[in-house]
Amino acid sequence: MIEPIYIYGHPVLRKVSPAVEKDYPDLKKLIENLKDTMYKSDGIGIAAPQIGVNARVIYIDAGVLADTFPELEGKKLVLVNPEVEVLDDGDRCSREEGCLSLPGIHENVTRTEKVNLKWLDEDFNSHEEEISGYLARVIQHEYDHLDGILFIDHIAPIRKQLIRGKLANLVKGKVHCDYRTKCFKK
Ligand code: NI
Repeated sequence: MIEPIYIYGHPVLRKVSPAVEKDYPDLKKLIENLKDTMYKSDGIGIAAPQIGVNARVIYIDAGVLADTFPELEGKKLVLVNPEVEVLDDGDRCSREEGCLSLPGIHENVTRTEKVNLKWLDEDFNSHEEEISGYLARVIQHEYDHLDGILFIDHIAPIRKQLIRGKLANLVKGKVHCDYRTKCFKK
């Protein structure tokens, strides 16, 4: 089911989400909803808080960017209770990021593009993989959502000043995008 995307300013995006327990009701339905909503809004990753659910679940499919970043080819990830360790020996670089919950805002974020990722899949099987390149960045961006962190928290204060007006508009519900949204004040 396609859900509305919760927009910057909504408190659900700022909560630390709890881990998913084995008896979590309808985990598969939550994952299906994440997929449906992400594809509908042309995203490359989505975290459960972005559809209003505080649970540690992420879906990533950045295959559309495979021309630029070959490591993304065919890589679809359902991450339940992920643990992300940023590895110091990776490339630290600045690239532009955006977020379905912050439509119209794109800013450079510096991250180390190498992580060790541990996670459960939708059947609670555990996995571990070292991931580098752009996918490591996507994983860090989505993982941040589970801790109530947004990519704009990583940008320079001067840049944040410059987008202050845009952020205020999002909080007020002045949103222009092609997908259904849910704002705090509207
Ligand atoms: Ni995001």
